[in-house]
Parts: sequence; C-alpha cells; structure tokens
Amino acid sequence: AAPSADAAKLEPQRSLMKQVVEVCARAQQTAFAHVTLSGHFVTEATKPEFGQYQNNAALSLFGRLKGTPSAPSSPRAVALALADAMRAAADELCAGLIDKLEVAGAGFINIWIARTWIEARVLDAAIVGMRPPAVVACRALVDFSSPNVAKEMHVGHLRSTIIGDTICRVLEFTGHETMRVNHVGDWGTQFGMLIAHMRREHPDFLSAPPPISDLQQFYKAAKVRFDEDASFKAEAHKNVVALQAGDPDCHKAWTLICEASREEFSKVYRRLGIELDEVGESFYNPFIPAVVSTLERYGQVVTEGGAKVIFPPQSKHAIPLIVVKSDGGFNYDSTDLAAVWYRLCELKAEWVIYVVDAGQGSHFDLVFDAAANAGWTAEGTRLQHVQFGLVCGEDGKRFRTRSGEVVRLVDLLDEAKARMLATFKERQAAAQSGGAVVSDLAAAGAASADGDEGEGGSFAFGAPHMADEEMERAAEALGYAAVKYMDLKSNRTSNYIFNYERMLATNGNTAVYLLYAHARLCSIIDKSGADMAALKAARTPIVLEHPAEQAVGLAVAQFAEKVEDVLRELQPHVLCEYLYDTCVKLNVFVRECRVINVPETPSRLMLCAAGIATMRKCFDLLGMAWLERI
Ligand code: ARG
Repeated sequence: AAPSADAAKLEPQRSLMKQVVEVCARAQQTAFAHVTLSGHFVTEATKPEFGQYQNNAALSLFGRLKGTPSAPSSPRAVALALADAMRAAADELCAGLIDKLEVAGAGFINIWIARTWIEARVLDAAIVGMRPPAVVACRALVDFSSPNVAKEMHVGHLRSTIIGDTICRVLEFTGHETMRVNHVGDWGTQFGMLIAHMRREHPDFLSAPPPISDLQQFYKAAKVRFDEDASFKAEAHKNVVALQAGDPDCHKAWTLICEASREEFSKVYRRLGIELDEVGESFYNPFIPAVVSTLERYGQVVTEGGAKVIFPPQSKHAIPLIVVKSDGGFNYDSTDLAAVWYRLCELKAEWVIYVVDAGQGSHFDLVFDAAANAGWTAEGTRLQHVQFGLVCGEDGKRFRTRSGEVVRLVDLLDEAKARMLATFKERQAAAQSGGAVVSDLAAAGAASADGDEGEGGSFAFGAPHMADEEMERAAEALGYAAVKYMDLKSNRTSNYIFNYERMLATNGNTAVYLLYAHARLCSIIDKSGADMAALKAARTPIVLEHPAEQAVGLAVAQFAEKVEDVLRELQPHVLCEYLYDTCVKLNVFVRECRVINVPETPSRLMLCAAGIATMRKCFDLLGMAWLERI
C-alpha cells in the first residue's frame, strides 16, 4: 500500500500521558493550592516494576514550601499528601485509569495504569485504528523541499523533502489545516545567464521550444560562457533587467527553463509519494516593493553602502538583511520578507515552518525578527526554522560521488532499489537451487513461537515466491523506505553518514527490519486462518496477561502521546524510536507467546492487529510504503 493520508478521520483521543498529567496537576492544585510550579513533573517509568509513569513534583514542592509556616517535614510527606490528592483527582477526572499509586524513595510517586484501561485502548486500536491525540489545531504552512531551478536536486534537498513531508503528515493527522509549499528558487540573476545561453543555443526557441532534458548540463555550459565571455556576461545582465521588467521573450525563455526543471522535480516527488504546491520565489516578486515601503514606514530600513538593509534591534547577528541591493535589485532576503508577509497577512497562517538546512539559521532569525517588528505576527503566531544537518560520506565530509560531484537524488533512489532487488534475486536463486531460505528475522534471532521461520518453516522472506513484477515493486518500496527512514531516524539537527549497507541492513534499527517484522505479523494472522473482521465485529477482548503482551499493550496505548511529542518538537526521530521500540516489543511477544492454536489465540490475534495498526500508522506518518508480504 502506498503511504497515504487516512481516508476516514477518526475522533481524536486524549493521550494517556496527558490524562496522567491532568490528574497530577489537579492533585497539586487541591493539596498545595498556594504553590504554582511551572511545567509538569511526570515522566515515563524507567522499569516495569515501577509502574508506567512517575510523578516527581513532590521534591520541587518541598523545596518551595521550605521555610513557610506550613512547611511539611520531608519530601516524602509531600508525596504522601500528593498521592492522596491524586487518588481523589483520578476518581473525579478519569475513573478506572489508575490502578495503584506508591510513594517510593525520597518522594517519587510511582503510577500504575489499570490493565483494563490499557486493554480497552488497545482493543479500540485493533478495531478502528490509531486515533490522533486531541490537540489545538491551527492553520499551518510548511515551506519545504524548495530546490533551485536548473540545478540538480541533491541529497541536501532530500532531507528537507523527507523531513518536511513527515511534518506535514503529522500536522494533517492531528487536524491542522496544512499548506505544503515548495519555495522553488525560480527567480534571480542566474536566469539572465540561462536566457542568454538559450538565445545562443536555440535561437528559434520562441517558435520551437527546445527539449532541455539535461538542465544541469545546460546550466554548466551557461556558467562556463558567463565566466569566459564578457559580452555574454553583459547580455546576461541585460536579460535579468528585461525579465524583471516583464519582457515577453525573456519571460518565455524563463518559462521553458522552469518547466523543464519542474518536470525533473516532479519525477522525484512521484517516486517518493510526496505532494507539494509550488509557490516559487517569482510569485512574491510583485509584492516586494509594497513590502519594502511598509518596512520603511515602520522605520526598520537603513541605507548602507547604497543598499537598503534591516538590522532588527533584537538580533544577535552582525549581518543585516538586505532588502534592496545597491543596484536597486531584489534578492533572496527581499523575497523571503515578501513571502513571510504574504503567509502571515494574506494567507493568515498561524504556524509557519521552514524546513531548511542549518546553514541558513541567521537568515531566518533576521526574517522572523523583521516580521515581528513590522507587526505581522499576531498573538500566538509561530515562525519556526526546522533546521537539519548535512548528509555526509564515510569521510565525514559532504556526501559526493566518487568523482566529487553532488549525488543526484534520482541516482541514489535507483541505487537503493537496485541493491534491494539484487538481494531478492540472490535469495530466489538460492531457493531454486534447493538451498534453505533462512529468513532475515530468524537470522536476527527473532524466531516466533509459532515456528514460522526459516528452514522448514512456511514463512520465507526475501521473496523466493515472488514473480518479477511483485519483486520489482517490493524492491522499490523497501529501497525508498530505507532512504527515508535512514534520514528520519537521526536527530535532524545532527549530520549523518550515508551508507547503503547500513541503510539496507535487515538487522537493527532499519526500515528493512521494520517492514519485515510487519509482514511477519501479517503472515501470522494469515496463517491462523482466522476471520479477523468477525473477531473485530465481535469486539473480541484483548487480555494482557504475559509481560510481553503487556509491553506491547502499553506501547500501543502510548501512540497518541508520541505523536504529541513529535508535534511539540517537530522531531521525526522521536516517532522512529517509538516505532522501532514497538516493533522490538512485538517481536519479543511473538517469540515468547504462541499465537496460533492456543486458548489465547483470539486475544493474541487481536493484539497482533493492534500492533499492525500502530506500525502502519507510523509508516504512514513517516511516508513509508509497507507490504503485507515480502
Ligand atoms: N532554495 C533554497 C535552497 O536551495 C531553499 C529555500 C528555503 N525556503 C525559503 N523560504 N527560503 O537553499
């Protein structure tokens, strides 16, 4: 199945964490009304023997009460009082949620969630699917991908594209009205040169539009001429002015070049299953003069060396924003000022997210400060630069091809797919020559209690049974998912090292491992021969008896709060960690607990279904296509 937005929107739910926090906050208000603590003090428990959550507020409360007339004798005394208040608050706010509270150590309160409560939530997940957390949604705009016309889309743009898409998916899932904007670099001085080159190479371009299939080549050739030939350079400058003034011939040439680029970009987007609305830099050009006058009216603009610049008073940067260049032209800064104005004041976006490399941090600080100073940000408006680090090669430097060129995105996707396909073919050949097909998961030590793995087992991975076409599709799905997951799983602010072997490994925290595990769960259900629709229709109860079942149950029940975490920090790796963690728990579960032909079969099949629903929703949010069999 392709990664897709949910057709049917499910009613949101309050996350488990949020409910626990509410109980703790209410208890604090009733027991210690005169103290206000900022933030909350609830964390996940570090071990199952300490329950599932922990309230650590007592220590801070004790600190705050010290020396006051009503000061309690110890943090433990505070914790005991707080725990009593929590019991009362839980009864009032969410009866049936909390099973047990225990004061431990210096004054921690360990919280056990009622098993029946978790079972009910997991059952809901198995039957209807994953509900989004209830959050206050707003009108969001995400500026991402944003490659430059006539230049190749490279791995740097890959990060923006993949991270931006996941952020959009999470926003959409949680009910935000989301605008996906591709701020394509389709304006600027490079077009003067490109148009001049077009005139020389294809003099009849107006009547016979040339097929520019290799724009990168076109760009390089234009650049060589530009650097070597003074008259060409002069012509290029004239073209820039003419284009800005709306000269029809220049405009036609510009359109042809942009179209050729768009063609190339959309191939990548199609392959990655990414939707984007192109609103390029050129779109904002007509608004720039008025935006500049507005900024001048607010007294922000000063003249420096003939250029008009802004130094926001609150800025920590020594460089200014250049609003108008000394030659009177506009640039990247001018465009972003007009764009932020348009997004805030015309589109009324309340949360504008720029997914751009960390190198542009100061640029966005300045743009955001200028927008705030101009009064374009309403109360509560968020302008956010979601930055990311570099994609590096094994040498720790920017990822390049062997000949030192930038790595083209299409080549990288082709390679990931080709390697996956080669692995499949090898296994098929081995199986046909009579060799045993040992599943990757079995090799990774994750055999299941139902004995469906490896030699003699009925579930062989690596597709010996697949026809060519299915294998091709599987290789593509796994290959592309691997590229995305590799990028998303690391904290976006750090650099990461690109490595095909690690990316496509069947072992460890990789897309291949996750997708195999998912397919294996599907196959267990399949093999059971159970009518899942009937089990669901009958609301077959899920009973979490075994510790491995309980671990899976809790993970499924925590889905909503993990989505909240991703939303708060706009950090996709938080979701990847959760997905991996849940997957490992599911593997432990099927290894330790037989699913088929035991008295627990109906409950365990339903738990598998809930696990599958959780994994699929994570795959969807990460833009990864999943397969029922591999
Ligand atoms: N085209 C730019 C680049 O490739 C990224 C644009 C990001 N968005 C923006 N509003 N400045 O570096």
